[in-house]
Amino acid sequence: MSSFTPDNQLELFFPADLISPEVKSQLHPDVHLRPLASTDYRRGHLDVLAVLTVVNDPGESEWVAQFNRMRQCPNTYYPIVIVDRKTDRIIGAGSVLIERKFLRGLGSVGHIEDIAVDKNQQGKKLGLRIIQALTYVSENSGCYKTILNCSDANIPFYQKCGYEKKENEMAKYA
Ligand code: ACO
Repeated sequence: MSSFTPDNQLELFFPADLISPEVKSQLHPDVHLRPLASTDYRRGHLDVLAVLTVVNDPGESEWVAQFNRMRQCPNTYYPIVIVDRKTDRIIGAGSVLIERKFLRGLGSVGHIEDIAVDKNQQGKKLGLRIIQALTYVSENSGCYKTILNCSDANIPFYQKCGYEKKENEMAKYA
């Protein structure tokens, strides 16, 4: 078990002050919500994402290379995590991608992606806090809407987070 690493000892993906203070104040004191850090591979980032889909662990150096590639696109990717302060392990994750458009007066849209809460931690409002924090980032980035795709089974969860069903998703896998 490792001791908790504070934000000022981490290389964070984006500035921590973009995280909603209100959402942080609603979290249990045993957990901390922050931007993804360059050492989060070691805190189990991929283990948490594995509750969502197939992960295929690329190893730490490739994970870090991806972290750096994504960070080279400024003001675009906003990955966040929730860390258990007692273990310094990641127990929740999610991200919002800010898409810039030519329409709506050069407007932007926030795309929420890859929401995952560790199986043993589900049902404690962590998923809700992740969505609230990502929506705050999206709205503070000037997005005129924030959208996401989900299964029918997750529709009630997103409705509890204040989202409503609109249109349909289409997909073509390679
Ligand atoms: N059906 C009905 N209600 C639900 C469901 C569900 N499947 N999941 C959560 N809720 C409700 C909760 O009961 C709670 O309601 P309440 O306020 O009345 O008590 C509210 O939604 C908030 O729930 P949380 O406790 O915040 O949910 P949790 O922390 O368990 O996170 C999540 C939900 C993210 C769906 C989690 O169960 C999970 O990781 N599932 C596996 C991965 C997954 O499906 N991720 C989403 C993919 S879609 C995407 O990434 C855009």
